[in-house]
Amino acid sequence: MSALEVILRLRPTKSEAVGLYKKDSRTVILKSKSGNQEEYKFERVYDTDDSQQTIYGENVCHLVTKVLDGVNVSVLAYGPTGTGKTYTIEGESVSGKEGIIPRAALELCKKVRHLSDDSLLTISCMEVYNEKIIDLLNNDPKPDLKLFEDAQGLIEVEGLTKLTLNSFDDFRNLFLLAKERRTVGATSLNEKSSRSHAIWRFRVNRKIGTGSDAIDREAKIDLVDLAGSEDNRKTLSTDQRFIESTKINLSLTVLKRVIKSVAAKEKNIPTRESKLTRLLRDAFGGNAHTLLILNVGPEEENLRDSSASLDFSTVAKQVLNSPFEGLSMTTPKKTSRMPLELNRTPTSPFAGRMREFNDSIERHKNKILVMKKENRQKAISLKSNLIKELKATEKENNEKIARGSQEKIPSEPALKILKSSGKYQNVIDYLNVGENLTRLEGVGPKTAQKIRDSRPIKDFAHFVKIFGETRATKAAACFVPE
Ligand SMILES: Nc1ncnc2c1ncn2[C@@H]1O[C@H](COP(=O)(O)OP(=O)(O)OP(=O)(O)O)[C@@H](O)[C@H]1O
Ligand SMILES: [Mg+2]
Repeated sequence: MSALEVILRLRPTKSEAVGLYKKDSRTVILKSKSGNQEEYKFERVYDTDDSQQTIYGENVCHLVTKVLDGVNVSVLAYGPTGTGKTYTIEGESVSGKEGIIPRAALELCKKVRHLSDDSLLTISCMEVYNEKIIDLLNNDPKPDLKLFEDAQGLIEVEGLTKLTLNSFDDFRNLFLLAKERRTVGATSLNEKSSRSHAIWRFRVNRKIGTGSDAIDREAKIDLVDLAGSEDNRKTLSTDQRFIESTKINLSLTVLKRVIKSVAAKEKNIPTRESKLTRLLRDAFGGNAHTLLILNVGPEEENLRDSSASLDFSTVAKQVLNSPFEGLSMTTPKKTSRMPLELNRTPTSPFAGRMREFNDSIERHKNKILVMKKENRQKAISLKSNLIKELKATEKENNEKIARGSQEKIPSEPALKILKSSGKYQNVIDYLNVGENLTRLEGVGPKTAQKIRDSRPIKDFAHFVKIFGETRATKAAACFVPE
């Protein structure tokens, strides 16, 4: 087992007022405006002036060697918008500022060239944009590639372009092309904000041994530049940017939930709820060695976002993965993809694995039943709390009227409460992307269609207009985020 490695990188500051400092090589201090200080520990902490080479050399270089040994690897940059994720993963086309991708590609090209003639290095690149998978190396890409599970239970992307890299020059051209094709747009917080999650996948196929004993070994390294979490009040996103931002936030919410569930060793991991988490299944609780780079801005004004990311990373550190050597399908008797420990078991290596799968299916079934029950109970309790709140407000208003108060009494107290509680925002986020709208109380097929036709639902007033007051209140009250 190997724990998820989490490192932190501070972006150069844009303001004098700083609230996040590096204390030592493993610690950052978060200092709030009121003077409270909190320490967070990481595998390693990088300051605002640490170079791209330092980040690569100390964290990724040895992982590239692991891939050649047959171990799957994932490297992800995570953090709020504008904090340096793309800078870290892709970098800039200026000497010394190249990011992890070109550095890893150069090393892979060199190392694979020195291996046997049969070794093969391939590259794929895709983006998940508005929950659609787009091939960035295809000149005539499909609007949305499908995911499927192969015979070995691995998630693959149907028809994704896979190109052989014979030299670093091959890579350089493809890198420029894919970067140009990736969806990027300006927001008030980042002139070149990534509007999609990008996944660069390098695969190495090697033949180990000779003659009839030869086995084919395959491993991949995923280099992932996630889109950043966004607060639309800060980014001032409208229309297209707003839709993108909703989908970005939703897929990041699913990612966080997956990581939390894996960290808590829950039996039901919500991987299937977003394309991103399906694509990155190996990375969290799976068979890859995973490095999570947390990018944050040190400015005081960003403390809320930074603090949320730091808290999240504390959870992520508890994720345990089981990296193992991957053997490809071309040598039938040795095609299993088993943890290393199982690989060494001399007798019946599949029996234990099959039992594990069967047990896990049973556990999942039970968990689903429990979840359904729990969600129902949660909804009932939310609803009764809201009714209590409404009654209290109504009583207060009646008393004010009786006292002859001149204060303006809200005409729709229920909706006012909902608006101020912010609960409706969860519903709006869900309505803008959710397919199974029947999770909301009182939504039949007709209303569901009306909601789909009205997307994107922009704000509270828009939400109430589509739903009607009563149903909007009910929907927000009964909405249970999973
Ligand atoms: N370590 C760094 N050194 C120098 N410049 C940096 C560094 N980190 C980020 N920047 C600069 O900060 C800006 C924002 O960075 P970047 O686009 O990488 O953010 P991001 O996290 O990818 O944002 P988004 O989530 O919106 O895509 C860019 O101009 C980038 O060059
Ligand atoms: Mg970016």
